[in-house]
Amino acid sequence: MAAAVYALKDFIADVDRIARDEPSAHAVAERVSPLLTRLIARPESVPAEFRRRPEGGKRGRYMLHRAPHFNVVSVIWGPGETAPAHNHETWGVIGVIENEIEETRYKVQEGVAGGRATLDVTRVMRHRPGAVSCLVPGDEVHRMHNPTARDTVEIHVYGKDLVGLPRKTWEPDGREKPLVSPKYLNC
Ligand SMILES: [Fe+2]
Repeated sequence: MAAAVYALKDFIADVDRIARDEPSAHAVAERVSPLLTRLIARPESVPAEFRRRPEGGKRGRYMLHRAPHFNVVSVIWGPGETAPAHNHETWGVIGVIENEIEETRYKVQEGVAGGRATLDVTRVMRHRPGAVSCLVPGDEVHRMHNPTARDTVEIHVYGKDLVGLPRKTWEPDGREKPLVSPKYLNC
């Protein structure tokens, strides 16, 4: 008998249980990580319309499931696209479905140089299909960059809805700027 398919609805049910029961953000991310690995092993688990960028060159951003304790979204980065260093104000688990992404993590010291922050690179990673990366309190500031000439498709799971959530982004010189994500393309 073939192994049961782990569908998006199974993943959502599992994450729902974990996000309700588990008070520690570190533990939530640790427990969601292998489930996301399992989900993204089958790219077709996510409907094709949420795995492509819209016309006009914009980033693909789709809400797949919105719940009080977490949400699941897809993000499609265009060739060469970059999101400068930014924070999330919640836990996150990110998995690559297609192509690859470069993720740079930072340790931020705020207000050390004339009101600017110091961002020290802690690691630079190159994630390929099947790779999963966790954002946890104390290690959740990153820069994302698609260094390739193709689209990169990812699934992100967050403990909060990022739409309208006040966050921060930093210029390369440490200048802080407010960051607020707009609505997703589908809702
Ligand atoms: Fe991010």
